[in-house]
Amino acid sequence: MNDRVVNFAAGPATLPLPVLEQVQRDLVSLPGVGASPLEVSHRGPWFEDVIGEAEANLRSLLAIPDSHHVVFCQGGATMQFSMVPMNFLRGDDRAAAYVVTGSWSAKAEKEAEKEGSTRVVWTGENDGFVRVPRDDELAPAMSDRPAYLHITSNETIHGVEFASTPAAPPDVPLISDSSSDFLSRPVDVAGHGLLYAGAQKNAGPAGVTIAIVRDDLLPRIPDGLPTVLDYRTYVQNGSMYNTPPVFAIYVLMLVTRWLKHEVGGLEKQLEHNHEKASLVYDAIDGSNGFYRGHADAGSRSLMNVTWRLPSEELERRFVQEAAAAGLVELKGHRSVGGIRASLYNAMPLAGAKALADFMWTFAAAERTPA
Ligand SMILES: Cc1ncc(COP(=O)(O)O)c(C=O)c1O
Repeated sequence: MNDRVVNFAAGPATLPLPVLEQVQRDLVSLPGVGASPLEVSHRGPWFEDVIGEAEANLRSLLAIPDSHHVVFCQGGATMQFSMVPMNFLRGDDRAAAYVVTGSWSAKAEKEAEKEGSTRVVWTGENDGFVRVPRDDELAPAMSDRPAYLHITSNETIHGVEFASTPAAPPDVPLISDSSSDFLSRPVDVAGHGLLYAGAQKNAGPAGVTIAIVRDDLLPRIPDGLPTVLDYRTYVQNGSMYNTPPVFAIYVLMLVTRWLKHEVGGLEKQLEHNHEKASLVYDAIDGSNGFYRGHADAGSRSLMNVTWRLPSEELERRFVQEAAAAGLVELKGHRSVGGIRASLYNAMPLAGAKALADFMWTFAAAERTPA
């Protein structure tokens, strides 16, 4: 597999090589089944085992308590932007509180406006989304007990991340879009009413979205929702009311198996993620201002590192020359420009090191007059 590039894409993103190799072995004919994972029934014993192991692995990796259900949806995190307020805001007199730390949380809030009243309790917009709020900045907004508090644990485009789960009062469910840092670190699942994540960054391929929902929230769901947009449908039918994304769940199961058995759990994964991100942030901080990191130090994402160069022309050359060196998908999101390196779990240390080395060399060459 020497022809694989070092892929810094934000999602769909690089997957662990042993997982891809397993998929390759299984793709035409699963041992004992004689058919491809693309061809088998979701009602058969093979898939029952797969979805069972996927859930069991998630439960053990994240220490998910029995109070929380794990369900597998489709429609991406974007569908969750609608499902969350349909299930937990529609018909409620209270407003839902949204923390806006970047583009994704802004989108989530806009969708909620269609279902009820919302309140942006903190926004980083005026500063260009360079940080997340401190707990003491959120606390006052909790006094009138919103229907829920929605956060985005990691903003994939701006590269700002909550280093730990913000505190919410016990009677205000915390709801987190954790799409881009899911499984990158241990998380206090018990402290969440609902946590959801599209799989295509850390957990698998596009096509499946994980939702972890606390049981005592289910009675709040209003009757009359479309069946597939009601969390109870997924809970009551083991995520198999209709055909689930079989192949995506199978790959997700392999990724969770890899995390458990090869990486050794989320504490270990977090150590690797710190190590990789430090290499890139050190190259930014050591460049005497040639690279300008976007996020404030305390809010820096371990998953998506974002920065600028002195000019757009230099940014173009950086992306081009990096690609020529096999380091691809480094262009920042079109809405903010600059450079973005996504360093998800499956990015090997050697990949982050290759990028950091390239950054040091590029900066030195640009700063030395020819
Ligand atoms: C934090 C976050 N939320 C939501 C989304 C939207 O996800 P999807 O495309 O799966 O709907 C993304 C996609 O990149 C994301 O990074």
